[in-house]
Order: sequence, then structure tokens, then C-alpha cells
Amino acid sequence: MAEEEVQADLRQQAEAAIAASNAAHDPDYPVFHLAPPVGRLNDPNGLVLRDGEYHAFYQFSPFHPHRKLVYWGHASSTDLTRWRQRGIAVVPDSWYDRNGAYSGSALPLPDEVRFYYTGNVKDGSGRRESYQCLVTSADLESFTKVDANPLLWGPPPGYTAHIRDPQVWADGRGGLRMCLGAQRDDLTGCVLLYRSPDGLDWTLEGELTFPDAAGRFDAFGYMWECPNLVRVPDVDGERLHDVLIMSPQGIDVPGEGFENIFACGYMIGELSDTALRGAQEFHELDRGFEFYAPQTIAGATGPHGGPLLLAWVGNASEDDQPSIQHGWVHTLSVARELLVRDGRLIQRPLLGASTDAEVPLGPIHLADQVFLLDALAGARSFRLRVRLQLHGEATCRVRLGSSERYVDITLAPDGLEVDRSATAYPHGERRRVSLETRDEVEIEVIHDRSVTEIFLDDGAVAFSQRSYLQGAGGVALQVSGSVEVQVLQARRFD
Ligand code: FRU
Repeated sequence: MAEEEVQADLRQQAEAAIAASNAAHDPDYPVFHLAPPVGRLNDPNGLVLRDGEYHAFYQFSPFHPHRKLVYWGHASSTDLTRWRQRGIAVVPDSWYDRNGAYSGSALPLPDEVRFYYTGNVKDGSGRRESYQCLVTSADLESFTKVDANPLLWGPPPGYTAHIRDPQVWADGRGGLRMCLGAQRDDLTGCVLLYRSPDGLDWTLEGELTFPDAAGRFDAFGYMWECPNLVRVPDVDGERLHDVLIMSPQGIDVPGEGFENIFACGYMIGELSDTALRGAQEFHELDRGFEFYAPQTIAGATGPHGGPLLLAWVGNASEDDQPSIQHGWVHTLSVARELLVRDGRLIQRPLLGASTDAEVPLGPIHLADQVFLLDALAGARSFRLRVRLQLHGEATCRVRLGSSERYVDITLAPDGLEVDRSATAYPHGERRRVSLETRDEVEIEVIHDRSVTEIFLDDGAVAFSQRSYLQGAGGVALQVSGSVEVQVLQARRFD
């Protein structure tokens, strides 16, 4: 088949799969989380704010689970809440991406947006080749692969073909930099940095180093996926930090946390040439059952000047979820503004306006009782904020759903427990987050049909997961002991 025919064919096949989809009729299909129109979604890609509109591209496998082939899907939103599917942006129809247009990022320029991504190629024996490639678009309607592709052929000496997920940014001095997730020949993970005068010719600078980490990251997992180097202000706006966010595979961290198949976290420091100075520790970004491969939105900041992050609410190899019966699987998270507080990232979720106004309900005193939130009766997509004072050993369980299908989020003075064993996807069942004992607890729950994001204590803890409630709705507070509810705010999105 001629190359043009292959192209037309692959695009048409994906469009036909989208046209035949019934995914949106699934009671678990979310309202304000971006999900694929059909098939499988994984990493967010090429996130960018352009002319007042947020564009989210994503790893998109329209034929999942029958055939594995990754495209870039495209959706846009003016409020980060209502997403409009915009069709396919990158079709894996070139020799250098024929086994998948893998993850990458956006570089907004005055006349066009450039999207750097990884072309994945596997030969007959399963041997992998990776190419770093460029697609440009002036209008974000049509997307053109540049003739100069691939810009980078394979890995440099000393690294394996596991080299992917470019992020490109302007260095502020007229040049561009790129970071790539990589694997050394000794099968340990790292980040490689490149420089370019024009975004086409790239020169390797070397590995990103951590001079103050006492060797902690020299053999830290076998591959670092989806690196993002971002500037993040302090919560009080006084200082800027350089933060490396990445998803290392195969790390082994003792103690609580890092319970998912692959981890996702960050180091905070100050970038000087190729060194992230001051970075000493790797912190987990989100403690939930599903969370991976996050990326920030190029050209966008939140109300406090912090970058906005979206993640894949999914994990590698965990595709066996109930929605697959309706022909789709996985979602992205909502956007979260990142800020630094006390040497850690905090994450504050951002959502636009909803149909119903916020309903203030507090303050009230509850003791050994179940309190049904009338404002959220039957609600399946909502946002809930609660600030509580727990007296003594008191606990407050926030139950989402019905008496048969529910998620329990139990707040105690010394932590949080989430139990999804009564959902249609109980995978992992229960998880605990231990915290320093305190009596005032603040929780924000963003629930949307089958995806739940929990934020504790002004974003100090984030916890994302799939909660397949299959049509069940509503919220109850089950209080044991004595609890002062100081703030209770609810907002419906149904
Ligand atoms: C992370 C990842 C990336 C890769 C993409 C392929 O989930 O494995 O490293 O580019 O997904 O879909």
C-alpha cells in the first residue's frame, strides 16, 4: 500500500471506531474528567493554553483491546471542566512512529505550537527503536509532521532504546532545552538533557545530576518515564523552585507509600546547567490507587502563579476495568495548581463553574450519627469540601454512593483510609495514609461518576482513584464520636 493510503486508512479506521462508540452512555462515563471517546487513554500529552483555550492531547488507542496502536487524541476546554473532543492529532503512520506515537509535550511559539513526541518502532523480533519527532500546528485543527523527522535517532552511546517522552522549553536566553526519560546500558533510569538553537538540531548536554542527593538517584529504578522540569512558586509567592516530576519504573522505597505498580513523584531543587542542586529526596505526588505520567500545561498558571498539572488516572497493565464492556478505559485527572509549601508540593484542584451554585451547609455538630447530605442526594458528579474538628478519637467517614455500591473515605486525627472494596472495581481494596496527629481536618472530594480525587489539608495529600459506582450517587457522613463540622460546601455537576 502506498504511504498516503496507509495514512488515510489509519485515520479512517480510528474515526470509524469513534463514530461507532457508545462509551458516553455508560453510567460510569465521567462528566468533567477527560476520557477517551472510545478505546484506551493513557498519558496526557502536549498540554497547552492557546488563545484562551486549554488543549489536552492524550495517548489514545482507539482499537483497544483488539489491536495495540497509540495515536494522539485531542480535546479542548475553556474552563478545564467541560471538554470537547477534537478528533485525532497525530496518526502513527510514518516509518518512525509506526508502532505508536508515544508521549510528548507542547512548545507554544508566536506563530505555531510545536509538539515533540516519541516515535516507537518495533521490528519483527520485538526489538525497540525510539525516535524523537516533531509535529507542528498553526491553528490546532491540522497537524503536520515536519520533513526533518526524526530529529533524534535512537539513544546516544551508553543508553538503551528506552528513551522517550520529550519535554521542550525555552531557556530564556534564546535557546531551547529538552529533557527525555532514559535508561542507561546498566538498566538504571535517568533523565537526559539536550540543547538546541532552533528546536530542530539537538545536542546532548548530559544527564541531569543530583549533586546533593548522596548518590540516592544513581540506581533508582530501571527507567524514568515522562520527565517534566517545571518552575513552581512558594505558596507565599516569595521564591521559585525547579521541580523534576517523573514516573520511575522499578523503584524500591521502604515504608508507607509507593504502593502502585510504578511510582510517580518529584524532587525539588534549583536547576543550574545540568544539575538539580539541593534536591535530596523523591516524594510521591499522589497516594491513590491510580495516578501516573502527569504533565503541566505549557503557557498556563493557576490563580497563585503555579503550573497546572493533569495526570493519567490509571496504571500500566491495569486495563481490566468494568468500563471496557462499554468500549473505553481510563480518564485524566482534573487540573491541579502546584505550589511549594514547607519543601513539598501541594496540589489545589481547579474546576470551572457548575450548573448549581455552591451550597453552604455548616457549621453543625454531629455525634455518633449518620448525616445525609440533602444537597447531594443522588449526585454522581460533584465537589465537596468539608472542614472538621475531631474531638478525641472521633472519626468521620465520608461515604460516596449507595448502601450497596460505595467508597468509604475515613478521616481520623492520624490519617485517612480509603476503602473501595464495595465498588465494581475493588482492585487493591483499602489504602491508608498516615499523617501527623491533628484535630482539624480539611478534605475536598471531587467525584465524577467513576473517578474520585481526594485532597487533604489544602492539597498536602492528593489521592486519586477509579471508583466504579455504576449509577450509585449521594453522600453521607458517618460520624463516630463527636465532630464539629465547621465548613461544608457542595457543588453538583450532574
Ligand atoms: C507512560 C508511557 C510513556 C510512553 C507512553 C506509551 O505511561 O509508557 O513512557 O511514551 O506511555 O503509551
